[in-house]
Amino acid sequence: MVSQQPAREQWGSRLGFMLAALGSAVGLGNIWRFSYVAGESGGAAFLLIYILCIIAIGLPILMAEFTIGRRAQLDVVGSFQSLAPGKPWVIAGFMGVASAFIILAFYGVAAGWSLFYFFQYVFGGLNVAAEGASADFFVNFHTSPIHPLFWQFAFMATVTGIVFVGVKKGIEASNKFLMPLLAILVLVLAGYSMTLNGAGEALSFLFSPDWSALTDPAIYLAAMSQAFFSLSLGMGALITYGSYLSKKEKLPGAAVGVASMDSLFAIVAGLMIFPAVFTFGIAPDSGPGLVFITLPEIFSSMSLGTVYGLTFFFLLSAAAITSGVSLLEVAVAYFMRQFEWSRQKAAFIIGSIIFLLGIPASLGLGVWSDITLIGGRDIFDSMDFLASYIFLPLGGMIIALFIGWGWKKADAFEASDFGDTLLGNIWIWLLRVFAPVGILLVFIYSTGIWTF
Ligand code: TRP
Repeated sequence: MVSQQPAREQWGSRLGFMLAALGSAVGLGNIWRFSYVAGESGGAAFLLIYILCIIAIGLPILMAEFTIGRRAQLDVVGSFQSLAPGKPWVIAGFMGVASAFIILAFYGVAAGWSLFYFFQYVFGGLNVAAEGASADFFVNFHTSPIHPLFWQFAFMATVTGIVFVGVKKGIEASNKFLMPLLAILVLVLAGYSMTLNGAGEALSFLFSPDWSALTDPAIYLAAMSQAFFSLSLGMGALITYGSYLSKKEKLPGAAVGVASMDSLFAIVAGLMIFPAVFTFGIAPDSGPGLVFITLPEIFSSMSLGTVYGLTFFFLLSAAAITSGVSLLEVAVAYFMRQFEWSRQKAAFIIGSIIFLLGIPASLGLGVWSDITLIGGRDIFDSMDFLASYIFLPLGGMIIALFIGWGWKKADAFEASDFGDTLLGNIWIWLLRVFAPVGILLVFIYSTGIWTF
């Protein structure tokens, strides 16, 4: 039995909901993760597959999450339990809560780096004009045992604080203020980057595909998991956010708005980062440090570099905070209902546990870098792999099948606001067949069992 709590919190407005969903989607994923994964996966060919995944798999599943959440008005586990009592679909709910713990644990580590960079710029900037200085600075910082933990803690404390305050006053208010600012700043920086010498090379890296890259099975899974990660899909973050939406709001427009803005953010972030990568001769495949190494290089070449650096890392941290909030909220909403905890108690306990889980991820990049878990990956990458490469796509597949096959078509049309229209029918077929099969093929193909 799922007990419905009496006064469920609600968004103040449709715009507030959209900005919160966008705040969840736009985060380190668009700037930090997108640029290093695209850099490691060959650029344009990756971008192409990524966009295909967003349109054919991401967008329909995003709609599915909004639809489930708003219909059930419950957390991710409760949603499945109340819409399909006694059925196995709820596995996706439990996987979602588990993913929230895992993702926020390593996410908090990288978000902590961003906070640290912000404060570095506040207190006078980074002196990294010498060749290689930026990379050295980053490596020294993030591999040291204690220092990054402090910033990870600061990040988790902030995220916990916002969730503690609640949906409308905490989550909605912070997103409404921060998201528009972030958009402006990324555009300005991308504009500046495009004036650098490496801009031409960056454009061809990002937009003229090297088709031979498509024969590498790994890029399909990389692109698909990036699509899930960037849209915050597959683990119920958007089910949870949809559950604070009242029945009168229309969903499809919101879903298209969130998906397109999120992709645009990633592409503009690419235009901001890759010109610097090529101008300063940094390898595009340098991994998770890419943003932290390239951007300080750009800033040190600019006359107002410190101001830009300060603003940029403030906004990156803010974007990470609004995303972190959505991750924590998934687990908090579940624990509040399941164990009848207060919001404050749930936020505090779960926020603390996730901070602790993040410690090994951080140490795994430094003193514990010899420890490898999944396929030779360090602890940090193993967490990312397990959640982003496995749980999110699998969760997304279950969500697609749930509406596609587990619901009556008429219910799905009604609950999604599509009605029995052409678009509604396309959506159902994407959920029934295309998205699940697409996810399955990517899974199989990436194992290397099957090649073409
Ligand atoms: N989408 C966010 C980003 O791009 C991260 C994020 C927030 C997320 N909530 C999520 C990722 C849920 C996966 C699932 O930074």
